Amino acid sequence: MKKPSVLIADDHDVSRDNLLALLSENGFNVRAVEDGRQAIDAFLGEKFDLVITDLKMPRVDGLQLLEFIKGVSAESVVIIVTGHGTVGTAVEAMKLGAFDYITKPLKDDLVILTVERALSFAKLKEENATLRSHLKKQYGFGKMIGYSDAMKKVFETIEKVASSDSTVIIYGESGTGKELVAKALHFNSDRSGFPMVAVNCGAIPEDLLESELFGHEKGAFTGATQSRVGRFELAAGGTIFLDEIAEMSPALQVKLLRVIQEKEFERIGGVRTISVDVRIIAATNQDLEKAVKERRFREDLFYRINVIPIHLPPLRDRKADIPILVNHFLSKFNKSKKKNLGGILPEAMAYMERYPWPGNVRELENLIEMLVVMKETGDIAAADLPTKILNGRGKENAVLPESIPDEGVDFNSLVTGFEKDLLLRALSKAGGAKKSAAKLLNLNRTTFVEKLKRLNIS
Ligand SMILES: Nc1ncnc2c1ncn2[C@@H]1O[C@H](COP(=O)(O)OP(=O)(O)OP(=O)(O)O)[C@@H](O)[C@H]1O
Ligand SMILES: [Mg+2]
Repeated sequence: MKKPSVLIADDHDVSRDNLLALLSENGFNVRAVEDGRQAIDAFLGEKFDLVITDLKMPRVDGLQLLEFIKGVSAESVVIIVTGHGTVGTAVEAMKLGAFDYITKPLKDDLVILTVERALSFAKLKEENATLRSHLKKQYGFGKMIGYSDAMKKVFETIEKVASSDSTVIIYGESGTGKELVAKALHFNSDRSGFPMVAVNCGAIPEDLLESELFGHEKGAFTGATQSRVGRFELAAGGTIFLDEIAEMSPALQVKLLRVIQEKEFERIGGVRTISVDVRIIAATNQDLEKAVKERRFREDLFYRINVIPIHLPPLRDRKADIPILVNHFLSKFNKSKKKNLGGILPEAMAYMERYPWPGNVRELENLIEMLVVMKETGDIAAADLPTKILNGRGKENAVLPESIPDEGVDFNSLVTGFEKDLLLRALSKAGGAKKSAAKLLNLNRTTFVEKLKRLNIS
């Protein structure tokens, strides 16, 4: 193991040499200098695990040295050595971020003890920083964040497959983040220096799509007055993102299959075969297997495309992501709209967690943007939410059906949903005050609070 390195700054020869000897004997890698000026030079030239400095020194004193070090790297650990006359200054130094101070005459045991303590503190701090960066990774990828197990799995997959050239297909309802996943894959791959070109196969009319993808030569068809480079060529070296791939016509599906298999194609009306090195990422909000069964999508193409499937569940199936997304968008729009809204009150959050979000993350993002625009200051309360959110019911709190359907109903979840609904409405009407909310339901406060707890309403 590497010896911990210590920098000592003390203008007093005897005490400096004593300290140097003591720490060297105890297994530290020590460098000693005579004043703060030299200490700064040493500090800038090498990495030290710990700095021990005297307070009174010529040129640059201990306090100035401490300030300098903390300014350069706030994580640095500094111990102050002080004589009886300067204890007050040492206390001052602690306020500036010194780890501890030791008084002269130095007692060997105490010095070693303090140094050991400081070093383990530094190590702990470093471990925490690493842990935080791991956490960050787990909670997000690029601009995408998520907390649910489903999203953590998505992040893991992205990390694993980003740098491979395999074809990826992203499945998910509208607004679940398919395009974000495609971007994360591209920008975390070796292809990130090359273009990522997106084509929305559903938005471009069928007869234009072929030319969009593969380009055409001059005179290839009426109106082709000039030759044109297609998106596959534009994406050379990079990634092509084929959005809404299920919308592609059967004729184009054949051409795409060839590009995937042979990595080559011709422009419309062209004779020259063009080879491209492009990674394909596709996305769809449809069930492709069903489309294959219904013969709307070629089976051979399906197998070529469905190499690495990534499934983005709808937001209503990963409610654990809602609070983190809400806060993410709140701080995003606070920043971009120069607002300073505080946060989301618990009852408002409860409503948002309960709403089924048919438009998924996009709908949630739009709602938060609207709230930030509309509200001037303070916290977002239930009263700020649009009625569709207040009335919205997810599956688990469906209201009583008109009549019991043939397949039956789930008694427990219906009752729970009804209870939750009542509690939330009472809370909202009472402006969040539990006592008055309980009164509105003719419950005593303890029962009310117990129910909140049981139903996970915070
Ligand atoms: N996990 C997430 N974290 C942060 N923002 C997200 C997340 N998922 C989606 N978004 C945001 O939601 C919006 C919709 O995402 P995106 O365009 O990627 O969805 P999509 O699945 O491609 O939708 P569509 O099928 O309608 O094209 C974007 O503004 C995106 O930034
Ligand atoms: Mg999209």
